[in-house]
Amino acid sequence: MTYDSVYDLLRGLHIIMVIAWMAGLMILPRLFAYHTETAPPGSEFDAHFLRWEGKVYAIILNPAMVLAWIFGGLLIWVDVHRRSAGWGFLLEPWMVAKLAGVIFLTGWQHYLGRARRAFVAGRRDRPAKFWRMTNELPFLAAIVMVLAVTTEFGRR
Ligand code: HEM
Repeated sequence: MTYDSVYDLLRGLHIIMVIAWMAGLMILPRLFAYHTETAPPGSEFDAHFLRWEGKVYAIILNPAMVLAWIFGGLLIWVDVHRRSAGWGFLLEPWMVAKLAGVIFLTGWQHYLGRARRAFVAGRRDRPAKFWRMTNELPFLAAIVMVLAVTTEFGRR
């Protein structure tokens, strides 16, 4: 097995995890919006939403984020150590845009985690409109990030 084929395999696994991560990031705020609109604290529906949200977080979001990071990190490791790319490419504009997106998505996921715990505590800190309006943010970030890696703009 050459390092190029290892790299291609890691890239595929990375993209699969990114797909799962994005799916979770897009479904959870939508559940929060329906939860806020239709299920008062303590109601039967409230309990259903809490269970669904907990599952999305624990079964999709957390594992997918960790694995996307692990495979992304391994791609960097192979680039730096086996394909002699050096560390410099991490400071090229396309990679800076990509990493800024990654930091944003990771922070956004933590924010969603805090919001989930507020629902568990019976609080509705944000109106449904907030969750509808912010629902597309991860997708907008993904557009920037995917085009950054496919075009590699500003590559030296
Ligand atoms: C979680 C942390 C992440 C890290 C550390 C990371 C890092 C990387 C690295 C080093 C590459 C190889 C770039 C190259 O040299 O061509 C890559 C590829 C890629 N990444 Fe990520 N990434 C992360 C998250 C994401 C996310 C959230 C998305 C999409 C929303 C994404 C989309 C992609 C795509 C589509 C490729 C393949 C590009 C190609 O083969 O042309 N990554 N990633």
